[in-house]
Amino acid sequence: MDGRNAIIFGATGGIGAAIADALEATHRVHRLSRRTEPAIEFTDEASIAAAAATLPDASLMIDCTGALHDDEFRPEKSWKHLSAEQFARQFAINATGPALLMKHFLPKLPRDEPSVFATLSARVGSIGDNGFGGWYSYRASKAALNQIVRTAAIELQRKWKQAALVAIHPGTVDTALSAPFAKQGLTVRPPEEAARDILAVLEGLDASENGSFIAYDGERLPW
Ligand SMILES: NC(=O)c1ccc[n+]([C@@H]2O[C@H](COP(=O)([O-])OP(=O)(O)OC[C@H]3O[C@@H](n4cnc5c(N)ncnc54)[C@H](OP(=O)(O)O)[C@@H]3O)[C@@H](O)[C@H]2O)c1
Repeated sequence: MDGRNAIIFGATGGIGAAIADALEATHRVHRLSRRTEPAIEFTDEASIAAAAATLPDASLMIDCTGALHDDEFRPEKSWKHLSAEQFARQFAINATGPALLMKHFLPKLPRDEPSVFATLSARVGSIGDNGFGGWYSYRASKAALNQIVRTAAIELQRKWKQAALVAIHPGTVDTALSAPFAKQGLTVRPPEEAARDILAVLEGLDASENGSFIAYDGERLPW
């Protein structure tokens, strides 16, 4: 993957910034978020299309966007806390936004060389692995993201024979997203360590892994 273009979506986030920094030594890194130029805002598809038109093709793209909570919403502990607004917001950022990134950026993967598009999902998006409950809208939006990855991987394989589109669980990492839970005693890893692990997993990928759901330590996760 050395010396090539890499595009990092969500490069202002905890994990995205660490991945972008780690790639600087080997890649021409293009960082995108709502706070970059060009900017991408998931509720404005035109901003994604415009960024795709501006940036070069790249053999490595890593989507590190996502949301778990904001000023208004916290993950739901019970069905008593469910709201249509929270579901809509979680799906917009964790599922629809990444799907629109795939729409506009998967065509920018080269067809004549190995390439990777990875999106950061979460183990809690696994239906098979759900033993704790709670976090309804986040879990559901990540399960939707996983299904989008699987579906787009099938379409990708028809024309991009050397590409791998994968969902990655980054582990529990010390970022703004995990901060409220770290305060409650959750063990978190530094973003730099997560970046190293994720990049090691991506380095080892080939097209036979297209459409997989993989953890930062290489474990293959159930859907
Ligand atoms: N941290 C963990 O423990 C953990 C665990 C499991 C899975 N994950 C997953 O890993 C990914 C990265 O998480 P993180 O911890 O690094 O989160 P973070 O620090 O909160 O970063 C989130 C990123 O998403 C971008 N973003 C948010 N809303 C957006 C929108 N409407 N349009 C475009 N971009 C938007 C933010 O960019 P701007 O605000 O600058 O636009 C930021 O770059 C997420 O998908 C998360 O679900 C994290």
